Amino acid sequence: MAGLSRGQCARAFGLTLLLSLFSTPLFAADAPGTHEGVASCGGSTCHGRLAPTGKTVRQNELITWQDTTSAAGSHSQAWQVLTRSRAQGIAQRLGLGRAESAKECLGCHAEPASARGSKFQISDGVGCEACHGGAGGWLVSHYTVGVTHADNVKNGMTALEDPRARANLCLDCHFGSAKSGQFVTHKMMAAGHPRVSFELDLFSALQRHYDFDADYVKRKPLASGIKFWAVGQALAVERQLSLYADGVHTNEGAFPEFYFFDCQSCHRRISDEPNAALTAEANPGRPLPPGTPPFNDENMIMLSAIAKVAAPGEGASFDAAARAFHTVMAQSRDATAAASQLAGAARNLAAAMAGHAFNRGETFAALDAVLSGAAARYTDYEGGAQAVMAADTLLNSLVAQGQVDRKAAEGVRPQINKLYAEVHDTNAWNPAEFRDAIRQLAGAVGRLK
Ligand code: HEC
Ligand code: HEC
Ligand code: HEC
Ligand code: HEC
Repeated sequence: MAGLSRGQCARAFGLTLLLSLFSTPLFAADAPGTHEGVASCGGSTCHGRLAPTGKTVRQNELITWQDTTSAAGSHSQAWQVLTRSRAQGIAQRLGLGRAESAKECLGCHAEPASARGSKFQISDGVGCEACHGGAGGWLVSHYTVGVTHADNVKNGMTALEDPRARANLCLDCHFGSAKSGQFVTHKMMAAGHPRVSFELDLFSALQRHYDFDADYVKRKPLASGIKFWAVGQALAVERQLSLYADGVHTNEGAFPEFYFFDCQSCHRRISDEPNAALTAEANPGRPLPPGTPPFNDENMIMLSAIAKVAAPGEGASFDAAARAFHTVMAQSRDATAAASQLAGAARNLAAAMAGHAFNRGETFAALDAVLSGAAARYTDYEGGAQAVMAADTLLNSLVAQGQVDRKAAEGVRPQINKLYAEVHDTNAWNPAEFRDAIRQLAGAVGRLK
């Protein structure tokens, strides 16, 4: 919120409130979908309180969003980072001019908005409406008595409580989309952009500015952590394969777009020594000859694990489609049909996961599937990192649902921390050590049952 004091927001918003009392067409609300800007949300009587003292919602959401000392404040900085040297260097190497005005960057580092109200400021980065939807159609009405969440959604508010809606929104920026400026190419990474890593439930927790209290469940259904995780995995696979098959993001010059592939498979060191030990390991989920870059299958591994527990029929079709896709990738330049088939299988699983009620036994079974069942598939860094996030998310889900005692769960922290340490440095990835650490966590989790 550069250049805007909280006092200004309050005044500005006070005016809107006042005007809304006279429902004359003279001051008609902006068109539905218009992005009104963070200043329109952050008044001190609205979401700009200093403390979470609101009756229905916290009302200090602005402060959390602005808190640059935590990951929760990251979105408010999304545009600012483009003005700094790392971003300037990336844009310069790619010949994009200044990063803060390059459309290739703004799709994710600012608020994509087709219509902008008078208080919209690009420097707000990823503001409230980037996630909650352009407020033109609901800003004035959404807090009035008698208006329901369903009414708000009808007026353009995003249904973020719905795992599929939330996953698709976050993935636009935390994986990529076909919309303008929302794709991080391998070229951008080679120019200095950080790797993009995501897990829906964990990243939701990291930017949390709301409470799931009695009031919340009166307004909206509350899905469990395991459901957000499972749907998030399914739609990550669906998104990855759909973009890969769309013909626009598929290739880069003579090669496929490397963004979709497993980074370490190309970037690990090689040796010409006669006795050199190979670093690549065979992976039972990917029938690929040596020397073939594996398509990044981190979300496929997770989705296959949860599907075995919650939707075994669809899971078997998904596994078959995944194997067929990897096989075609090693044989042909055109894998778009296999990619579309796999994207479809993932979409079906997203629907199955969204409609599934995960119980305690299934969450433990999912943990088993991730920690033990899939262990042989953690040959590469990405899959390993995703398994660590899954372990954390699933344990949190058990605790949040009252299915495991918090104290008892704390007991497995050392094993989780050991796993996080294993994936801390991509260049120090050691699959054998990782599998050892994951086996230890599996043992500790077994004792929680
Ligand atoms: C598909 C969405 C997307 C696009 C397009 C994109 N970025 Fe990013 N960028 C991200 C995400 C997400 C992160 C945070 C990564 C993480 O921590 O998981 C990020 C992180 C960064 C960072 C590191 C920020 C920090 O806090 O250290 C820089 C710098 C950056 N991006 C610059 C750029 C530039 C320059 C462009 C255009 C050439 C660009 N980005 C295009 C999504 C995107
Ligand atoms: C990165 C996406 C994102 C951004 C940015 C964001 N939110 Fe949220 N917000 C969410 C999600 C996800 C939820 C929880 C899901 C839900 O219940 O709607 C949520 C929940 C809320 C809630 C509680 C809703 C309820 O029914 O209890 C309020 C209020 C809220 N946000 C306001 C804001 C405000 C104000 C801003 C800007 C200062 C903001 N949010 C920025 C994603 C975001
Ligand atoms: C319009 C694009 C956009 C959308 C939509 C979006 N994000 Fe982000 N997010 C970013 C960018 C860009 C960054 C990195 C900003 C920076 O480094 O300052 C980021 C950073 C984050 C971070 C901090 C990561 C870290 O390593 O510190 C979390 C957590 C996060 N996002 C969660 C979410 C969740 C959950 C959703 C969906 C509810 C979401 N985001 C939706 C663009 C977006
Ligand atoms: C199919 C092989 C392949 C895959 C997969 C691949 N890269 Fe690359 N990458 C390359 C090549 C080739 C270069 C250019 C090397 C050169 O210029 O010497 C490169 C360059 C880079 C560079 C610049 C390195 C430097 O020192 O200049 C970075 C950073 C990078 N890639 C990151 C990634 C990330 C992150 C991923 C995964 C999302 C990835 N790469 C996937 C082949 C690959």
